Amino acid sequence: MVELALPKNSKIATGKAWPAMGEAKRTKTFKIYRYSPDDGANPSWDTYTVDLDECGPMVLDALIKIKNEIDPTIAFRRSCREGVCGSCAMNIGGRNTLACTKGIDEFKGGTITISPLPHMPVVRDLVPDLSNFYEQYASIEPWLQTTTPEPETEWKQSPEDRSKLDGFYECILCASCSTSCPSYWWNGDRYLGPAVLLQAYRWLVDSRDESKEARLDQLEDPFKLYRCHTIMNCTNVCPKGLNPAKAIADIKSMMVAR
Ligand code: SF4
Ligand code: FES
Repeated sequence: MVELALPKNSKIATGKAWPAMGEAKRTKTFKIYRYSPDDGANPSWDTYTVDLDECGPMVLDALIKIKNEIDPTIAFRRSCREGVCGSCAMNIGGRNTLACTKGIDEFKGGTITISPLPHMPVVRDLVPDLSNFYEQYASIEPWLQTTTPEPETEWKQSPEDRSKLDGFYECILCASCSTSCPSYWWNGDRYLGPAVLLQAYRWLVDSRDESKEARLDQLEDPFKLYRCHTIMNCTNVCPKGLNPAKAIADIKSMMVAR
C-alpha cells in the first residue's frame, strides 16, 4: 500500500494532461505525482503521454524527456543513470525501485503511475525529504573504527573475511527498502529501518573494525532494531538484489550470542 505524505488538509486532485506530440504510433502515458510547497495548491496527478519511438528504454529516460521537452517544472533526482548512485529511487507502478534501471516495457497496459518514495515528507514532486534517513545512517557511524595504529599501506583483509562483506557493500542507500517497510512507516523516527541496519551489519562483520561491541550496544534498543517484524518487503523490493532482512536477523543473532 502506497501512502504519500500530503500537506495537511489536502487531497490529490486530477491535474493537467499532456497528449503525445506529433503522430506518435507507440505511446505510453505516465501518471506522475505533482506537488509544490510554494503555491498552496493540492497535490495532483498529471499525465504525460510519450512517444516511445522517440524515447530511451528506461523510466528515467521518459522522465528526462518529459522534463526536457514537455514540462520543465517537474522535479526528480537522478545522477548516474546506471543504478549506482541511488538517487532516482521512486515508486513506479506501485513498487519502489530505481527509475534508471526499470524498463518501460516491463509495464503492461497504457499507463505507468509514478510517485515519490512512500511515507516520506515530499520536498517537491518526486523528491522525498531524506533528512531523517541520512541522520539515521550517520548515527551508526559508518566508517572504520580501530585503535590499531594505521598501517603504512592498506588495511589487510583475507579473501575469506573480505567475502563476508559481499551482499552488503553493494548497498547504494536508495531507501527503496526502508520506505517499503510498514514498521519504518509507523516508527521511522525511532526504528532505523532495513537500509541503515544493513549498513550497520556491514561494519559489524568487517574484520578490520574493532568497535563491534560498541556498535551492538548502540543498536540494543526496543525501537532501533527490534521493530523489525520480518515482513520481508525490504528484501523483496531491493533493486540491487540485496537481503536487508537477513542482515537484521544476523544482528539479532549477534545480540543473543553475546
Ligand atoms: S538494501 Fe537495497 S533497497 Fe535498501 S537502500 Fe540498499 S540498495 Fe537500496
Ligand atoms: S540515477 Fe543513479 S541509481 Fe538511478
